[in-house]
Amino acid sequence: MSITDDTRSKAMPGSNGAVAFPANFLWGAATSAYQIEGAVHEDGRGLSIWDTFAATPGKTHQGETGDIAADHYHRVQEDVALMAELGLNAYRFSISWPRILPEGTGTVNARGLDFYDYLVDTLLARGIAPLATLFHWDLPLALHQQGGWVNRATANAFADYAEVVARRLGDRVDWWLTHNEPWCTGYLGYGIGIHAPGVRDMQAAVTAAHHVLLSHGLAMPRLRANTRPAAQLGIAIDLYPVEAADDRPETLQAVAYADAFRNRWMLDPIFRARYPEGFFAASKVSPPAMEDDDLAIIATPIDFLGLNYYSRWVVRATRSPGETSTLETGEANGSAAPAYEQVVIPGASYTEMGWEVYPQGLADVLLWLHDNYAPRAVVITENGAAFTDHWDGGNTINDSQRAYYLREHISAAGQALAQGVPMLGYFAWSFLDNYEWAQGYSKRFGIVYVDFATQRRIVKDSGRWYGDFIVEQRKRQ
Ligand code: FCB
Repeated sequence: MSITDDTRSKAMPGSNGAVAFPANFLWGAATSAYQIEGAVHEDGRGLSIWDTFAATPGKTHQGETGDIAADHYHRVQEDVALMAELGLNAYRFSISWPRILPEGTGTVNARGLDFYDYLVDTLLARGIAPLATLFHWDLPLALHQQGGWVNRATANAFADYAEVVARRLGDRVDWWLTHNEPWCTGYLGYGIGIHAPGVRDMQAAVTAAHHVLLSHGLAMPRLRANTRPAAQLGIAIDLYPVEAADDRPETLQAVAYADAFRNRWMLDPIFRARYPEGFFAASKVSPPAMEDDDLAIIATPIDFLGLNYYSRWVVRATRSPGETSTLETGEANGSAAPAYEQVVIPGASYTEMGWEVYPQGLADVLLWLHDNYAPRAVVITENGAAFTDHWDGGNTINDSQRAYYLREHISAAGQALAQGVPMLGYFAWSFLDNYEWAQGYSKRFGIVYVDFATQRRIVKDSGRWYGDFIVEQRKRQ
């Protein structure tokens, strides 16, 4: 796939009038607390599972931690000014639970709330709508010590935390996500342990994921009661359209399983109050222990679904029993049956994460969601790419591959919108280069470059392109 070098001058999606995004469409960028804030010991913040996981030798790239990250905690004015310069009208951030409740429950740390209060006011003063995510993986360590997400009590603790935050910010924040990617919290954190807290047990993953989903449902009425009538409440799910690499019957079976595992494990409970049929048996685990109302609580209607889209999975059944999976994310499918592997597509381009650049998949997944689950509305809450950036010390960074990625995905989103998908916004991942979890600072996703040695910010060409695109959109309203 060739990357054009004239991404800024080329016709923007819709410049021929084909795709018109609505006037009040949210054009934003996203971040999360542990990935950008730093200041992990300041103003009464408690520890999270990511502090200890990152500090454990061998868990992250070169032992890197989020101790300083992009130092956003001290740079709110500068960062929000940059958002305004780019013309963003929305910003998605996450709230650090251990800043608000250092022990996870109980005593509220007022200085933690003050920080987000200040961030929200700074955004609003610039006409930028805040979209707050309540959980982007940084569970208070104190709760982990009581079992973390495997402990059902954590779901209740989350609902209490959600209420504390909504009581403070609900008079100004109208966009809320309970969780970011419960699949990752459950599977990456408890199933294969490549994320905090580093547990490797598929049964624990299934239980943890259930409690995360339950906590989402329990938090919904607590948020509703403490926000304005206009508030839009949802959850962000990461979806990967799964496609067959060949037409062998065992591959088709593998595709069905991989789709249940990667997508429907989260979607079915939220939209249909059930888990995908046969999923737990096929994964060779027991269903999570549940109380009678759990699934009904999880399926509490949401106002919008947050969709995080990066790529697709093209899979085939493994050719011989015992052949290991080559899933690029590193997650062997463990005890799961049938065994499958992800294939590399000849001629396709891949990001630094090893994820195929496949914009059409965004349109496909949006239409599939609409047809199969019909969320009331969708916001694309993450979409972006890691590429190596070269900074020569000047004021520009040429990242035409990232600009191309954004342009093509926004165009695909536009196609789905034109075909009737109720879509309210798009958020590029990420606003800033940041701490990419186990990959540390080795992967840059920002539309704004961060020189971590000096914390200097430099808007990349992709950020300039995105800003120009947003201005163009406004002119056409
Ligand atoms: C998503 C996460 C986000 C970031 C991107 C690259 O899964 O939500 O924090 O790591 O991937």
